[in-house]
Amino acid sequence: MTNDRKLRAQGLGVDFGARTVLDDITLSVPANRPVAVTGPSGSGKTVLLHTVAGLLAPTRGEILLDGMERAVGDHGGSVVGVVLQSHGLASGLTAEENVALPLQARGLHPDDTARRCWEALAAVGLDEAARRVVDDLSGGQRQRVGVARALAMEPDILVADEPTAELDPANRSRVLSLLLDGPPGRIVLVASNDPEVAAACHEVVHLRDGRIVSTG
Ligand SMILES: Nc1ncnc2c1ncn2[C@@H]1O[C@H](COP(=O)(O)OP(=O)(O)OP(=O)(O)O)[C@@H](O)[C@H]1O
Ligand SMILES: [Mg+2]
Repeated sequence: MTNDRKLRAQGLGVDFGARTVLDDITLSVPANRPVAVTGPSGSGKTVLLHTVAGLLAPTRGEILLDGMERAVGDHGGSVVGVVLQSHGLASGLTAEENVALPLQARGLHPDDTARRCWEALAAVGLDEAARRVVDDLSGGQRQRVGVARALAMEPDILVADEPTAELDPANRSRVLSLLLDGPPGRIVLVASNDPEVAAACHEVVHLRDGRIVSTG
């Protein structure tokens, strides 16, 4: 993974049936220069992030990594970590088991899986809660499990949807620096209406009705 990588969305559009919810989105996310996506509720932040993460196929346009088109869901061998807005945790499992799931799915050695789970949960301040079932955790704790799960992937591309929405100020700062100050070469896209997030990013893309209305 080189430090000058770049992810680029080019003329991206998403329709749901006859309804266009994302249109003509062109943006670049260089490695180590996190980009924030802001915009009112329903403006298309989540749809954009899911498309960039490969969870949703665009109706139009393409996503390029280092200038090369990648097939939907295939990031050319790079690892994608996603923090979902609704957390997407598996009910009935502990925090540690939730963080471990995608690592196990990737076939990571159990020792490495255990180490990464521990490190990621400790980083978000949940070492004490690692063995608790996620259903019994608070909203903010669940949000941090979702963050830990994405970080434990050691992703090349990190996509985080409103990752601080349920956090107190101390945890918000902690999670923000974990997400934004990643290792060299990481590409980071964050959807948020938190001014602290926007201020900490290198660029802010503002959406309205599925279109970019300002970049700065
Ligand atoms: N699966 C879907 N089918 C149909 N419409 C959808 C679907 N997912 C999202 N939409 C629509 O796309 C639009 C953008 O939704 P999106 O979730 O991206 O907004 P958002 O900016 O993330 O809002 P919020 O700040 O509330 O999270 C909305 O009008 C929503 O109703
Ligand atoms: Mg959203």
